Amino acid sequence: MREWTTEERYHLLDKKDEEQLKEMHRGIQLSKWREDFHIQTVTGLMNDPNGFSYFNNKWHLFYQWFPYGPVHGMKHWYHVESEDLMHWKNLGIALYPDTFCENKGCFSGCGFVKDDILYLVYTGNHKDENNIRHPYQLVAKMDKDGNITKIPDPIIKEQPGYTEHQRDPKLIFNKEDGYYYILLGAQRDNKTGCFLLYKSKEIESGWEFYSELKVEGFEDFGYMVECPDLEKIGEDWVLLFSPQGLEPKGDEFQNKFNNTYLVGSMDFEHATFTPKDGVLRELDRGFDFYAAQCAYQNKYEDCAVLVGWFGCSDYSYPPTEEEGYVGLQTLPRELFVEGAKLRQRSPRNFRKLRGDTFIKSLTRPRDEDIVQTNMTRSAIYHIRNLDDSHLKIQLWKGTSTSGLVLEYHPETKMFVMDKGGLKHPTNTEFGTVRKIYLENGLSMLDIYQDRSSVECFINEGEYVMSVRVFPEEDEKGLIIQGKVEVNVFDAVNTVYDDFKIF
Ligand code: FRU
Repeated sequence: MREWTTEERYHLLDKKDEEQLKEMHRGIQLSKWREDFHIQTVTGLMNDPNGFSYFNNKWHLFYQWFPYGPVHGMKHWYHVESEDLMHWKNLGIALYPDTFCENKGCFSGCGFVKDDILYLVYTGNHKDENNIRHPYQLVAKMDKDGNITKIPDPIIKEQPGYTEHQRDPKLIFNKEDGYYYILLGAQRDNKTGCFLLYKSKEIESGWEFYSELKVEGFEDFGYMVECPDLEKIGEDWVLLFSPQGLEPKGDEFQNKFNNTYLVGSMDFEHATFTPKDGVLRELDRGFDFYAAQCAYQNKYEDCAVLVGWFGCSDYSYPPTEEEGYVGLQTLPRELFVEGAKLRQRSPRNFRKLRGDTFIKSLTRPRDEDIVQTNMTRSAIYHIRNLDDSHLKIQLWKGTSTSGLVLEYHPETKMFVMDKGGLKHPTNTEFGTVRKIYLENGLSMLDIYQDRSSVECFINEGEYVMSVRVFPEEDEKGLIIQGKVEVNVFDAVNTVYDDFKIF
């Protein structure tokens, strides 16, 4: 891919470029890796989910977006909307980085609903004439008709004692004391990662630095924390965040950066989060998952709803980058707490994502493999392994390549995802194999296979593994071996790939 100059990267979206962007989008639409049921960038580059919320009877999601090419540059917020978390409509640009405080981009942030207003709380990425970054926390308000107005002054400025990396606000209202809190991801001057907590009686003003958030049992989290989130699920609090600089540990933390969580209790007065068991866990055990955020929502009381960026900072995906675009969001997940762990399920209405039955094979034991040679569709697999037996699945198997291999070994209880047999495995410097030890064996496996991605929900969301794949024309084989029940459905096309920017 060609080099982009700083000037090209820091280009503010301009109405007069509409034709040029439309032309780019026309080209992108022809890509064989365009998805059927995942939110994908309209043009250029998409990264983090932002402002995710249920507002005015619809789900709203915004994403970090650089319109002009597959590189990180001037970040805008792009808006998509859904009634059911499944069918998503492109609504166009939501936030332009067009004020002083955000002269180098509208960075990540959250959504919060109050009095028929969706508050978008985010980081203004300002750089001064010496190219020194100054983060500002900003607020914009969206009314029910979708009109967005920005509050002119930042609600929070830089906090001394920390580097220029202070960002990604999460706004929480604590019913107990009647205060609003903002949690930021930050880096201390000594280059360790932490959280900053601010407090106010109102959303639009009155914010004061309260304290660093103490997380019992942890001094710091790598060299920087990004995209913090704090959710109450049932009686528990869950702290979710994307720390940078953690070391790999056994089969875990293998990606460049990881998205982690802790389940516990939150004491706002003492600015302390107490984890239940002190074990930092990854939200996703696959290859491509980062910067996830939960929705501000009152639709479901028993769970939180999460979306992640189907990618990671400093990763590259050359197949689509060469076609001028990059970036996806993962499917939404419902999060439930069980002990100190999260169970992550695909949304309850996702049955509707199933189209025609494509393979139905309930025979057990089976000695014959299921073999398809022309698997060119996106599909949903429900596999039930009632005997805890050996299972091997090859998706996108080529004539001389093994494809994406998913394998479960009952003797060792290891579940393995191996992308080394694909023609275009990406970011291979972080390995091509991910493994999970399944304490209770494998009983259920649900796979969502889109045109360039796979998400595996293991044992009803005990673990989830996500991976980007870029199959070529000759990678269209499917093999399933094992004494298991198999149901495969065509996936419905639910994401409208239309061109809408202004
Ligand atoms: C995470 C992140 C955030 C930042 C945004 C900029 O991927 O680095 O910390 O706000 O992306 O696009």
